[in-house]
Amino acid sequence: MVIVSNRGPVSYRRNADGSLVARRGGGGGLVSGLAPLVAGTDTVWIASALSDEDREAATQGVVEADGFRVRLVAHEPSVLRMAYDVVGNSVLWFVHHGLFELARRPRYDRAFREAWAAFARYNQHFADAVVETAPPDAIVLVQDYHLSLLAPLVTTRRPDLSLVHFAHTPFAGPELLNVLPDPYRRELLEGLAANEACGFHTDRWRKRFVASCAEFGVAAPRTFVASLAPDGEDLARVKAAPACQEWCRSFEERFDGRQLIVRVDRIELSKNILRGFWAYEELLERWPEHRGRVCFMASIYPSREGLPEYLAYRQEVEYLVERINARFATPGWQPVVLETSDDFPRSVALLSRYDVLLVNPVSDGMNLVAKEGPQVNDRDGVLVLSTETGAWEELAEVAFGVHPCDVSATAEVLAEALALSAEERRRRAARLVEVAASRTPVDWLQGQLGAVASRG
Ligand code: F6P
Repeated sequence: MVIVSNRGPVSYRRNADGSLVARRGGGGGLVSGLAPLVAGTDTVWIASALSDEDREAATQGVVEADGFRVRLVAHEPSVLRMAYDVVGNSVLWFVHHGLFELARRPRYDRAFREAWAAFARYNQHFADAVVETAPPDAIVLVQDYHLSLLAPLVTTRRPDLSLVHFAHTPFAGPELLNVLPDPYRRELLEGLAANEACGFHTDRWRKRFVASCAEFGVAAPRTFVASLAPDGEDLARVKAAPACQEWCRSFEERFDGRQLIVRVDRIELSKNILRGFWAYEELLERWPEHRGRVCFMASIYPSREGLPEYLAYRQEVEYLVERINARFATPGWQPVVLETSDDFPRSVALLSRYDVLLVNPVSDGMNLVAKEGPQVNDRDGVLVLSTETGAWEELAEVAFGVHPCDVSATAEVLAEALALSAEERRRRAARLVEVAASRTPVDWLQGQLGAVASRG
């Protein structure tokens, strides 16, 4: 088995003595889902070199790094920037999550044509690495939209390999995909169709892919659904460790018997962080009895800061939080607490302490936080979940659903969740844990391998 993804399990830093050292890096469901399955095995993980240190390490070929067998692919920095920032993050991510406001963007001009050529080149670099590295007859698990063009570039040279593509995002149905003109759209769909199978977190995204193939005249490959789930044992280990326990104690002190609304996210446009705070503001306006009795703590960490949209979004979030605090804070009560550094033990501690977990993305392939929270929570917390997440398909029965754009309805659902009786909270939480823990990362991996095994 070979894994291919843009972000890999490790990144390199330089030690004081000048040597390179590999560190495990987080950042999104893809790595956190795959890493525990692959660590300590002889599976080779092929990923982009994302920094100068990574690029230097890439010259060593396949290396053992912090428990992984890694081969880093060194793109020219300009190729990586255009493929990752311009095509991947600014267009494909927006298309699949339906994030475009069409008055100004996207703009397919000469710069975009150049970026698309870089995207093809980036995929070609990965193809070369797969062709050189994969053992005979290997199964190659290709992860996410960055590698949409990979399959045809590999299969023509290595017909012995079985390629399975897995999408961690939602997939754009015909109307959304129409924002991408031919020939980009065709190249994208044909690229995906050249895989032996394409997998999705939910049937909803799978159907959209099949519909887009049909609409734009591309023969769809075999498709399958395999939802990702967090590693419950790993979460339990993190929770029991001193770093997390220390945070738990500090939260007990800090929130001192108050009810707590929590969110844990990358600072990411699709996560709908602004509407979450607007809903909280409306809650405090319409139900003043919650003032002083509830806090909202958000652990949101920077992401894709090379993109102006993400920087502007972060600023808007910070400004909104300041405004809410300035408007409502009283001595001894800060309505919103914002943490913007990436600290996984702190996030786990926060998840253990919530009364209400707010997960309200505009659109999300799965959303692992919605499944992680219930597995570590100690307070029979309630999950408020966007109906536009993949997780909703599995958790609808036990979560409170919200339409991501409906700020008033979100405020009402938050109020309802905060007011739930202890007995109802217990009943829901028990079932929530059951459902959230019913699948493991191994099931997800089996789904991808099974897609190859089931070929006719
Ligand atoms: O989960 C979707 C995804 O794009 C993954 O591919 C990625 O690891 C994660 O989000 C975080 O994004 P990025 O790697 O761009 O920081």
